[in-house]
Amino acid sequence: MCAERDFNQIERFLRGRNQAHLLSFWAQLNAAQRKNLLAQIRQLDFSQIDDWLANYIKKAAFTAVAADCAPVEPYGLNPDSLDQKRRYEQAGELGKELISAGKVAAFVVAGGQGTRLGFDGPKGNFPISPVKNKTLFQIFAETIAAVSEKYQAVCPWYIMTSPFNYAETKEIFRSNGYYGLGENDVFIFQQATLPNFDFDGKILLADKANIACSPDGHGGSFKALYQSGALEDMKKRGVGFLSYWQVDNPLVNIFDPLFIGLHALDEAEMSSKALIKSEPKEKIGNFCLVDGKVTVIEYSDLPAELTEKRNPDGSLLFQLGSIAIHIINCAFVERINTTGFSLPLHRAVKKIPHVDQQGRLIDPAEPNAIKLESFVFDALPLASKSIVLETLRSEEFAPIKNPTGPDSPETTKQMLVARAAAWLESAGITVPKKPDGSVGCLIEIAPSFALEKNDVKDKVNQIPEIKPNDQIYLA
Ligand code: UTP
Repeated sequence: MCAERDFNQIERFLRGRNQAHLLSFWAQLNAAQRKNLLAQIRQLDFSQIDDWLANYIKKAAFTAVAADCAPVEPYGLNPDSLDQKRRYEQAGELGKELISAGKVAAFVVAGGQGTRLGFDGPKGNFPISPVKNKTLFQIFAETIAAVSEKYQAVCPWYIMTSPFNYAETKEIFRSNGYYGLGENDVFIFQQATLPNFDFDGKILLADKANIACSPDGHGGSFKALYQSGALEDMKKRGVGFLSYWQVDNPLVNIFDPLFIGLHALDEAEMSSKALIKSEPKEKIGNFCLVDGKVTVIEYSDLPAELTEKRNPDGSLLFQLGSIAIHIINCAFVERINTTGFSLPLHRAVKKIPHVDQQGRLIDPAEPNAIKLESFVFDALPLASKSIVLETLRSEEFAPIKNPTGPDSPETTKQMLVARAAAWLESAGITVPKKPDGSVGCLIEIAPSFALEKNDVKDKVNQIPEIKPNDQIYLA
């Protein structure tokens, strides 16, 4: 009876918003389904939806690039003066102190749907290490364990999932004994979702009883950290800094003392690592200064004349690309949540399965609908201060996005092997090469063996002679 009354009221409301089709299959739903569907509809924020329809759905939002868009001056790979050398040394020491004092936590975003890769299950469970075929989650867990051991500190790990992969992710960690990390030191939580729309602005139904929706983007992490209790947990532990990365990048240096230290010395609120783009139009965000604030402008939004513009020495004016590695202050997450903030949305046209008005399940072959998401880097301009540290692609960035070709498991494995070989070579070890110069064997360095190049130097006598086509695992 009550549901019936609610139905009438909500149906009238939806009709006024051109969304009454959400109740098209009401007569076919049982009581529990009806209750659930009404709850989903009540959760929709129609005041925002009107804005999304106007700005993102019915037209692709135009991102105006401010006229005073200027290049960012990063901290370079190496200090460029004696003063800066001292600063790097001081920062490295401070970073180590902060890690040792348990002030730094690991934070991976793993709530994406990985549609391009098309892997069945959470992407973190994708096997990738070149010799042992360890999964992404296992590599990160072993890294965190090795850092805890090295610095004699507890390094909690926060993992953002979505309602679509939370249960599976939890089960992966449970069935793997949390990879040897304490269960209490691994905090798995969920981000929010946003509804999917067709090109006319109608919200899609996933089936007759449920609204179609997608995770709200990695930018959803700021609200999710706050609302899930993760931030509260950090405060209890005395954690002050989050080392943020994306689940598809196994090369990440999660606890980099220099990066953490420079960020802390400069009293920044949210900072970033950057690399030099491989070509002007590489599909990564561009670091720019807009109104004096460090900002990332998507590759598709930076006007061609700026993308291609060069310095007198031939380098690109906007040469710094974003690799989604950040240090974020917990106090920053709290500040923006308690003072009110919103990140802009970005529109993606995707293939989204749904039921049509006849109740038929449509599994589209072509992109048919709009997904809205917010991006973590859009929070950078909200930070009072933000630094950028340059890094090398070969050391820190090899994301797995596609099943084949660029940014695929094959290229990521190659880069893991190439980095391991470079670390060994830097310690004076001879690594077999193919005629084209690529590595002629498989090498996997476990985090327990080395977290960075310098760690290899102390263990040279544990490394066997390496012959072509060997499979070497160092742990
Ligand atoms: P991507 O932009 O590569 O998106 O995410 P995706 O959903 O994983 O993959 P595609 O586009 O469907 O192929 C970059 C990182 O941000 C996380 C992902 O898990 C990945 O680590 N992410 C993305 C979230 O945590 N939540 C989201 O809503 C979106």
